[in-house]
Amino acid sequence: MQHVIGYDLARGLHIIAVIAWVSGLLMLPRFYAYITSSQPGGELEQTMLKAARNLRMIILTPSIILAWSFGLFLFATYLVPDWERPFGDIVAAVPHWFWAKLILVLGLSGYHGFLSAEGRRLALGQRRHSERYWRLMSEVPFLVAIAVVLLATLEP
Ligand code: HEM
Repeated sequence: MQHVIGYDLARGLHIIAVIAWVSGLLMLPRFYAYITSSQPGGELEQTMLKAARNLRMIILTPSIILAWSFGLFLFATYLVPDWERPFGDIVAAVPHWFWAKLILVLGLSGYHGFLSAEGRRLALGQRRHSERYWRLMSEVPFLVAIAVVLLATLEP
């Protein structure tokens, strides 16, 4: 059977989607910092609320879907060669670094969900966190991304 998409192409598309996803996660809390420091109801608040919404809809939502889809496709290729073996053996054969990566990536996805919920609260005028908090939070995805990329490339 012809391959619809090769492994290396899927890996490339996975990395492209991850770049878009992580960049969006780095930018969004910075937008929230601007919103938090702006005059309530003022022009800056309105502009940044719109920018944050667009960033979520145009970049973040599609890129998390694509990063997960290509990632799970790549993961499936680990499993396919020994499909006939008992499930326990298949799970045991998955490299350990992958489970560590999965935990970090689930954390990153949870962080994404948290940011989306906070964005909706900010749009309702609820400012639950300080500007400094959002500036610090914008560093979190970068630290997680460093760990995830090194796990994926060094395969310790
Ligand atoms: C969203 C869930 C994700 C899943 C299910 C997933 C799964 C995978 C799998 C199975 C591979 C193939 C590994 C190999 O055989 O070399 C891979 C490659 C890779 N992933 Fe992910 N991944 C996810 C998210 C991420 C994130 C968030 C990052 C970066 C921040 C990332 C960075 C990479 C890199 C750099 C590679 C290429 C590694 C190499 O070829 O040496 N992944 N991913």
